[in-house]
Amino acid sequence: MSDFKIKEAPVEDEQAQPILTHEKSLSQKIAHGSEAGDILDQQMVMLGIQLVTQLNVLLKTSRIYERTNAALDRPVEAMLTLIKTMAHDQPITLRLQNDFLFLGNSHLKVNAQQMAVATSIIDVLNTWKIGGMTFSLAVESKDLREFAALFVSLDPGNKTLDDLQREIKVRGIAGIDIEEQRQLQVRKGPGTALNREPDNTKSVNPNVQWKTEAKKGYAGMAGSIGALTQSAREGGTVSFKQAKRAIQNIIDRMVDDEAAVLGLTTLRCHDQYTHNHSVNVSLLSMALANRAGYPKAELADLGLAALFHDLGKSTIPMEVLNKPGEFTDDDWIAMRNHPTEGILILSKTRGITNLPGRMAAAAFEHHMNLDFSGYPKLTVPWTLSLTGRILTIADCYDAMTSSRVYRREPMSPSKVLNMMFSKSGKAFDATLLKLFVNCVGIIPIGSLVMLETSELAVVLKPSADKANAERPFVRVITDPQGNAVDHGREVDLTEKDETGDFRHNIIRLIDNTEYKFDTSRYFV
Ligand SMILES: [Fe+2]
Ligand SMILES: [Fe+2]
Repeated sequence: MSDFKIKEAPVEDEQAQPILTHEKSLSQKIAHGSEAGDILDQQMVMLGIQLVTQLNVLLKTSRIYERTNAALDRPVEAMLTLIKTMAHDQPITLRLQNDFLFLGNSHLKVNAQQMAVATSIIDVLNTWKIGGMTFSLAVESKDLREFAALFVSLDPGNKTLDDLQREIKVRGIAGIDIEEQRQLQVRKGPGTALNREPDNTKSVNPNVQWKTEAKKGYAGMAGSIGALTQSAREGGTVSFKQAKRAIQNIIDRMVDDEAAVLGLTTLRCHDQYTHNHSVNVSLLSMALANRAGYPKAELADLGLAALFHDLGKSTIPMEVLNKPGEFTDDDWIAMRNHPTEGILILSKTRGITNLPGRMAAAAFEHHMNLDFSGYPKLTVPWTLSLTGRILTIADCYDAMTSSRVYRREPMSPSKVLNMMFSKSGKAFDATLLKLFVNCVGIIPIGSLVMLETSELAVVLKPSADKANAERPFVRVITDPQGNAVDHGREVDLTEKDETGDFRHNIIRLIDNTEYKFDTSRYFV
């Protein structure tokens, strides 16, 4: 990191900070999700906040001074440096969603001191109904000056965003693009499209029946894990009967339609994190094991083992499990003990000679990682079981994509897969990880994507064509303006037109966490 340098901040605004820049972009050399990638993301967020700060200074200064005035030199120069640094590989977009600022897909979290600046920019963007501001390398000093002058000279009371966009073109301002806000959230409310289940079923459809049954299976599993955790907490007996029945129900369905069962795992937004998580891990593990060639009879055992992999968490006090803030060292010790506690509870309830190896492995090994970088740490040689390897993948994937208390924010499914791939062969078994991607897809089930037409769509199942794995099967859920649509059409992105070109293309992966958007409604 020798090529970092500190520049003096402009003095016009006490909120402005020193600008940290690096000469060359690192983003193409570093895998996202790797540790170095995380550092890069953090730097981008930091630079993003500086960009917001400088934009605020520029707009404020432009209200007082003419565009060529020297008072504008510093914010303009600062913004140019930031843009050249950040937009090295591709244009960067400052986005406003639900009154939160994002740089690309990263939330720009501001501290108390930066709050005033962020709020000021959020207000400006809201007044104009601007959802995104994109800067590219084409931008020059004159463009920023002209843009700021134009921006403060127009009155949002009698001009629209279209007028502003037109003026940007007319005045030949290069390297700055503005897009409108998308209305996805605004339209939520009783009786509106987003709150109704999509009804693609003109009349009675076996699909509806199927979904209802699958949902029952899911609820059955969640119910039994709830009862079991409760009874483990109270030291009572544990019966696996209900869970076994529910799992068998799910397996029968999985053989028919794996993607639809995995769609159930998008039910992430519930308070009952641990229960949903356990069921999801069970479903994902069974799907992965199925792909790995497990006999059907053994799938149920694996599903049951996976369902109880976190049973050891019942020894952790509820206050710790539900803690919104950071964990203390003691909290972490309690958390890291749950695999060992899990084995103890299971052997107590099943009897030490009657505890299936798979169940023990699921509880004990699921945080160890293939390279033993996780926990518990052992002082004896150990071979990770196939169950343990499967569980590690399913558990990590679901935990990272779920919103839960002790992780600050959930990640989008595709980001999580990227992160996991950066640890393929290390934390995760490389072959199993590839099979796992076949289950959930390169762009995983439940992901939100933007099509070329500007319509948003949700991924329903992976592409059937391995050669075009990045072209899943999707359902369109909004029109090009972002308004939710009922009965959105299903689109096979591998479909070609007469000339042999693909009919539809994804132009952008949307972070559904960015939209605080729950895609599960399209599955269950
Ligand atoms: Fe766990
Ligand atoms: Fe877990």
